[in-house]
Amino acid sequence: MGFLNSTLDTLYQRHLELSNKVDWGYHRLLPWERGRNFIDEPWNENQGTISPELTMAVETAMLTEINLPWFTTGLQAVFADAPSALKHFIHTWTREEDQHARILDVYLLLSRNGDPDMRDHIRKNVIQAGWQAEATDPFAMMIYTSLQELATRVFYLNLARAAEAQDPVLTTILRAVAKDETLHYAFYRDAAKAYIEEDPSRIATVCRVIPRFVMPGFGMPNFRQRLKVIAQYANYGVKDYYHSVLRVVLEFWGILQYDVSSSTKDARQTLDRYLSKLGRVAQRETAQA
Ligand SMILES: [Fe+2]
Ligand SMILES: [Fe+2]
Repeated sequence: MGFLNSTLDTLYQRHLELSNKVDWGYHRLLPWERGRNFIDEPWNENQGTISPELTMAVETAMLTEINLPWFTTGLQAVFADAPSALKHFIHTWTREEDQHARILDVYLLLSRNGDPDMRDHIRKNVIQAGWQAEATDPFAMMIYTSLQELATRVFYLNLARAAEAQDPVLTTILRAVAKDETLHYAFYRDAAKAYIEEDPSRIATVCRVIPRFVMPGFGMPNFRQRLKVIAQYANYGVKDYYHSVLRVVLEFWGILQYDVSSSTKDARQTLDRYLSKLGRVAQRETAQA
């Protein structure tokens, strides 16, 4: 446990150094000069400056990030008895995530993209519904958060590319958010790897958690429809999750190269079945694109 704790301490210190270097404030990136009063000049859909599809993608990201109070609550409960570096990390992570929903929401308001009343209504409902952590132990949670942080990193970078031709300010915002997600991913990925190296039988947990992975926004209205639009117009679909998220993480942890002992055999077969199923969906999506 001593070696694991000191590795986690080092990873947390590394995170602090890197995150201080990329630190950004949402007040500096938002296009305040575009702001107009919604009472004197009510919203109508012709005022939008980016496509409805891009708007929907940004809105979906905002509605996912907005549940931060519940993510923090859930993570804090799961990490209650975890090494202190993980507990400290949750605080730093919350500080960084806090401006993600805000910058996206304010961007949409200032640029008059999307119906502000409708979004206000959905946002409140999403927060009311909250979020329940899938995992109950710190290691399983870090498998989930590694996937989730890398998924958001890839999503924001791909979305930034889709936004380039429509609004360079939005592109800059999305890339700033992606930088934070990159560092969050690196912390969880390396922390999870240290746990696996400490006890390789934990691979069974990795194999069990991965097939159950769903993004935390799955409870929001029209979630399936949103995913379809995002896959088509924002360059992020099953194929991106499969190739740029899942395979990358599995490769990094060396999961598929580990010798399967009898205790991990069942879990590994479940993972293999899941991977081939998802691989086929990814292939179909690539062919359609
Ligand atoms: Fe975020
Ligand atoms: Fe993040």
